[in-house]
Amino acid sequence: MSGRLEGKVAIVVGAGQTPGDTIGNGRATAILFAREGARVVAVDRDLASAEETVAMVRDEGGQANACEADATREEDCRRMVESATRELGRVDVLHNNVGIGGSDAGPAHIEEEVWDRILEVNLKSVVFPCKAVLPVMREQQGGSIINISSIAAVCSTGIVAYKTSKAGVNAYTQTLAIGNAKHGIRANVIMPGLMDTPMAIEGISRGTGIPKEELRKRRDEQVPLRARMGTAWDVAHAALFLASDEAGFVTAVALPVDGGQSARIG
Ligand SMILES: NC(=O)c1ccc[n+]([C@@H]2O[C@H](COP(=O)([O-])OP(=O)(O)OC[C@H]3O[C@@H](n4cnc5c(N)ncnc54)[C@H](O)[C@@H]3O)[C@@H](O)[C@H]2O)c1
Repeated sequence: MSGRLEGKVAIVVGAGQTPGDTIGNGRATAILFAREGARVVAVDRDLASAEETVAMVRDEGGQANACEADATREEDCRRMVESATRELGRVDVLHNNVGIGGSDAGPAHIEEEVWDRILEVNLKSVVFPCKAVLPVMREQQGGSIINISSIAAVCSTGIVAYKTSKAGVNAYTQTLAIGNAKHGIRANVIMPGLMDTPMAIEGISRGTGIPKEELRKRRDEQVPLRARMGTAWDVAHAALFLASDEAGFVTAVALPVDGGQSARIG
């Protein structure tokens, strides 16, 4: 490995994962950041899941600590950043991976409780970790924030709460980036497309009753590039670039990682 994050401290929020056959975006990102030399704080509401990620990092000789926090709660986010700075001295990278979409529906069927839950989780879990880390990054005069959105933000999907929340993440990140550029803080969005992760495959299969292999086939067919979904490692590698100094002049970008799907017409 080439040590592209050597000397950096990275907080990955949502670093555990939905159980399943494959690896999730947050877990793969935490592992890849550590492989590249970062000291990683693996944050999750589910401490046991964050600890599994930490064990995987340490098994490879990397450095990581687990931290239990609900990213939608401002107080938890403040505590998460305080403990990272107390124990590791700084925060160079904040990667916000939390996102949900269960029970979403179209405009004629969306239920108030579902709308509130999806909007609350997907927006607050970006806004409050960022708010907590900004004073530290401003003091350092540098840092990289990566928010995980979705191509749903820019493509029509038929479901409204997830799409609206992710479009909100894109909009929020633009303001975050421009407002903090003078402090040397970069902020970018990754928009994953159809990924073969447990959140998508096991999650949607459970919600719809479509068998996993049938679901994989249907999702693969929609992807222009080799008619194959991406994996969590594709998201992790894009995040690695944005986290690293190689992306030193890249800010306020919304990067699709989607095998060309968001560019497809018809
Ligand atoms: N898989 C896909 O096809 C796909 C496509 C587009 C976008 N995305 C985005 O990728 C992200 C999730 O990817 P993943 O594969 O890592 O999912 P995942 O479900 O495996 O992991 C998400 C983690 O976040 C944690 N979490 C949930 N709510 C939390 C909260 N309030 N506070 C702290 N932790 C919380 C969960 O416990 C879980 O460990 C989401 O933002 C999702 O919208 C995924």
